[in-house]
Amino acid sequence: MSADVTGADVTGATAADLVRADRVAGRLYTDPELFELEMTRIFERAWVWVAHTSELPGPGTFKSTHVGRQPVIVTRDRKGEIRTLLNRCRHRGASVCEKPQGRANGFTCPYHAWSYGLDGALRGVPYPDGYEGVLEKRDLSLRRLRTESYGGMVFATLDPDAEPLETFLGDARLWIDRFMKQGGGYPVKVLGRHRFTFRGNWKIQLENTTDGYHFPIVHRSWMASVDAETADMMSFMTDPTAVTHDLGHGHSVMQMVPAHSDLDADDGSEPLQARFDGLVAELSATLDPAAVRKVVRAMHGTGFNLNLFPNVSLSAAFFRVLRPVAVDETVIEHVAIGPDGPPELDAVNRARLRIHEHFQGPFGFGTPDDAEGWDRVQRGAAAAPDMPILINRGSAREKADADGHPTAHVTDETGMRAAYGRWKEMMGDD
Ligand code: FES
Ligand code: FE
Repeated sequence: MSADVTGADVTGATAADLVRADRVAGRLYTDPELFELEMTRIFERAWVWVAHTSELPGPGTFKSTHVGRQPVIVTRDRKGEIRTLLNRCRHRGASVCEKPQGRANGFTCPYHAWSYGLDGALRGVPYPDGYEGVLEKRDLSLRRLRTESYGGMVFATLDPDAEPLETFLGDARLWIDRFMKQGGGYPVKVLGRHRFTFRGNWKIQLENTTDGYHFPIVHRSWMASVDAETADMMSFMTDPTAVTHDLGHGHSVMQMVPAHSDLDADDGSEPLQARFDGLVAELSATLDPAAVRKVVRAMHGTGFNLNLFPNVSLSAAFFRVLRPVAVDETVIEHVAIGPDGPPELDAVNRARLRIHEHFQGPFGFGTPDDAEGWDRVQRGAAAAPDMPILINRGSAREKADADGHPTAHVTDETGMRAAYGRWKEMMGDD
């Protein structure tokens, strides 16, 4: 685009012009200048998800990831504090860590061997005599990002003045608490992850997480591939209690299986799925019936998708993390999770991984179909960038729920309206 979204320039396009209550401009997917603005106005200001605490189990553990396009290392330092550090040497800019995760005492730059501690402090430089009188080590730590966590979810922000994480999450916190109950009485841990790229804009994926409308269409082959009980559980199209709430701050939650939204609310009347009979028998050898029921009832996760603007969703039984690379390229990471408990639960986590792969895996019956849809949106949007993208489904039947959150049916576009409302606020704000 040739316009500044603040409206300062010739075309007069403002954030308000680009995003209306019922539609957004198609060029939100295709305009490289808009993408550049998003990187600074959204990804350098918001709290961006970087890790789950189980990925940093003890001092010296680390993972590398990104905040927007900026590479970072998330570490647990010697004192146990979680840090997020820009992965950029303070000498001449080389990345100091290329491993996806691991354990280390610190990071030594490969170029001239400046070495940094787990907290980012510059510890040593080789041949220091050349720096006599011109270098103050304490001023040259790896840049530290503000880092805070909630419910095991670790977020970082490049904005030193950002609101506290808990304010940013707002009413989404209740849903994070509920999501973590799928540990079945145990904490949740990361079981594994895989990554893929799709040729489309990051917001196409963001929209998808609380888009119940596509489910029976795009996921027809998945529905045909599962047992009747699972297919029945996911047949929410005509269930009036299956709703999506706009939680504020751009976050939304889509309740596909409302009976599973709060896994602690269980009157014992719902039978466990027959497909888990073998697992129930195996677990019953060591766990009491209530513990077995708790863990097995949570095998599909919680029956909702929580979309946290801008980069992570807590979806059914996994996390989905998006990383914008270019206006038409996005990396997605699917992070499988399960209960972190005694060895008996290994069988539970194996079964959870098989369910995860069946839908979300690279040759699964779900995600590859989603990704094809996302690619197709990007290709189609190139045809007429000035034609709007419609996000008005269900707006006439949207009502405030008891907490005042705009709410409509699970197939409605409430989640998209929530996310684009936030986009407009952040993009229009200098
Ligand atoms: Fe890192 Fe020179 S660029 S030590
Ligand atoms: Fe989908």
